[in-house]
Amino acid sequence: ESRSSSNNGGRDFIYSEEKVPEYSLPDILTTDAGEKVTTVKEWESTRRPEILELFRKHVYGRNPVGRPEQMSFDVYDVDPKAMDGKATRKQVKITFENNGKSLSVNVVIFIPNDAEHPVPAYLLICNRDKTNIDPTRENKIEYWPAEEIVARGYAAVAFHNADIDPDDYDKFQNGIHGVLDEGERHDDAWATLAAWAWGASRVLDYLETDRMIDAEHVAVVGHSRGGKTSLWAGATDERFAMVVSNNSGCGGAALSRRQYGETVGRINRAFPHWFCEKFSEYNENESEIPVDQHMLLALAAPRLLYVTSANEDLWADPRGEFLSCKEASTAYEIYGKTGLGTNQIPALNEPVQQGNIGYHVRSGGHGLTLYDWTQFMNFTDKHWKKR
Ligand code: GCU
Repeated sequence: ESRSSSNNGGRDFIYSEEKVPEYSLPDILTTDAGEKVTTVKEWESTRRPEILELFRKHVYGRNPVGRPEQMSFDVYDVDPKAMDGKATRKQVKITFENNGKSLSVNVVIFIPNDAEHPVPAYLLICNRDKTNIDPTRENKIEYWPAEEIVARGYAAVAFHNADIDPDDYDKFQNGIHGVLDEGERHDDAWATLAAWAWGASRVLDYLETDRMIDAEHVAVVGHSRGGKTSLWAGATDERFAMVVSNNSGCGGAALSRRQYGETVGRINRAFPHWFCEKFSEYNENESEIPVDQHMLLALAAPRLLYVTSANEDLWADPRGEFLSCKEASTAYEIYGKTGLGTNQIPALNEPVQQGNIGYHVRSGGHGLTLYDWTQFMNFTDKHWKKR
C-alpha cells in the first residue's frame, strides 16, 4: 500500500501540528434544525438518532438487516479443561442463511473456571491472521492474550473478520454481502467495516444465550481497521456495555478534519471496500462531511469507552484521537457523567481513567499489546467489579 501524495489527491501527508489546517467541528449537541439539546431525553430521542443516521448515510452505510431470521448457533466444541484446567473453551459456529445461500462464522471462547458465573467478556474483532486467535493456544501472542484475560476473571471471545466479509475489494460479491444483499447497490449501502460490525452483534446474540457469560457486560474490542469497526458496532448496538478502539485512526477515533496522517481521500482510494460509496465524495473535502469522528465516540455515551493511541503511530493521528475523546465528553455530561475528565493529552504510558472514557498513549508503534489489554481490564475492574 502506497503512502505517496498521488493517492492523497496530490497533497503531502501532514505530520506536524503547524500544518494542520484550521477547522471547525460540527457540534455534537446541536440538532440538524439548529437547536441545542440539553437533556437525556432530547439526546436519545432526537440528536443521537440524527447522528447515527448521518454516519449511516455518509460514512459506514446502511445494513440490509439487523438480527437475521435465519441464524443458528452450533456449539460444536466444549473443553472444560482448557488452559491447564483454568478455562472452559467453547467454539461456536454461527450460520446465516438467505435464499439458499449461507455463511458461517467461527467464534472462539475461553471462560474462566475459577470465577462466579456469569462472567463479563471481551469480544475481539480479529483483523489479523486467524492464528492470532488460536483455539489450541499453541500460538500465544499479545494481540489476544487469552490466558491473561481469563486470569483476570473475564471471558476471552474472538472471531475472525474475514469469516464475515473478506478484506478486499470484491465488489461485494462474497462474504455476507453475497448472502444478504439483494437488488441494486446504493451509495449508502453497507460495505465491509459495517459488515464486520454487524458480525460482532451476531456474536453478541450468541453470547446472550450462554449462561456462563454476562451479556450485559461485554466489551467489543478492535485494533486499527478492527477499531474503526468496534466503534461502529458500539454505535449501532447499544447492548455492548463497552467499546474499545485501539489505534483506530482515520475513519475510527481520529478527527478527519485535521487531515493529519491518513486522510479520507487516501483511505477511500486504498480501501474502496471499507466505507459506503458516498464517503468518497468527501475525499479532499473533509469540511463538508456532516459529521466528524468525535460524534461517533459520542454515540457510545453513557457507556464505557476506551481509546488508545501509540506515540509512534502518527499515521493514526494520536492527538486527533485524543481530541475526539475530549469533544465526545459533552455527550457524557448530558447524563451527568464525566467523559474523559481532562483537557490535556496525558504523558506517555499514563492512562486517564477518571470518567467513563478511558484513554492512553502507549510508547511504541501501531499494535495491540498486553500493555493495552491490561489498561482495558484495569478500567473495567474499576467499573464492573464493584457490582
Ligand atoms: C492501514 C490503513 C489504516 C488501518 C491499518 C490497519 O494502515 O491505512 O487505516 O487502520 O491499515 O488496519 O492496520
